Amino acid sequence: MSHQVAVIVGSLRKGSFSRLVAKAIVSLAPPELSFTFVEIGALSLYNQDLDTADPPETWKQFRAQVKAADAVLFVTPEYNRSVPGPLKNAIDIGSRPYGHSAFDKKPAAVVSVSPGALAAFGANHHLRQSLTFLNMPTMQQPEAYIGGAGGLFDDDGKPKTEATTTFLRSFAGAFATWISKVLAG
Ligand code: FNR
Repeated sequence: MSHQVAVIVGSLRKGSFSRLVAKAIVSLAPPELSFTFVEIGALSLYNQDLDTADPPETWKQFRAQVKAADAVLFVTPEYNRSVPGPLKNAIDIGSRPYGHSAFDKKPAAVVSVSPGALAAFGANHHLRQSLTFLNMPTMQQPEAYIGGAGGLFDDDGKPKTEATTTFLRSFAGAFATWISKVLAG
């Protein structure tokens, strides 16, 4: 059975390594998964005063795009040992109004990406903390901590080594299995 995955990238940077990783996962995923990149850069800052019956248009679109997906793939860098502000903002927007979270019950996976050796472990686990509260069954294994990201891709944005390709392919395959399992109840 085919499933639709919303991909949320935690970086707004044009040359983002996180986006390269996300694109590589998409290109290596099994055919039963289809993907939509849900962009977070235009979302205004969450303000509960604006969360009325007629919230900002960008919030409405974001919530609708997440709701339309069967699952969510988060690919994020680490800022100061946590998730970047724009990603946290998107999570807050999608989580509201209370009782109507766009994320509720959707299977998720987390990939953290850094040019550094610690591979954004802190961001990965801070994000998992939010996903627990959001009631998103999040794939536990394989974990994906992508370190040394500055050297992983060629000028065309493709993984340079078979090892990277193999890992990202197996991660995508495991996520497809996880999504099917969660949605089957
Ligand atoms: C960083 N960077 C960073 N890296 C890391 O591994 N741990 C960290 O805590 C931080 N903190 C941090 C804070 C801020 C404000 C910036 C701008 C950067 C470096 C970061 O990993 C690097 O810029 C990546 O290239 C960002 O990911 P994208 O944009 O390439 O996906």
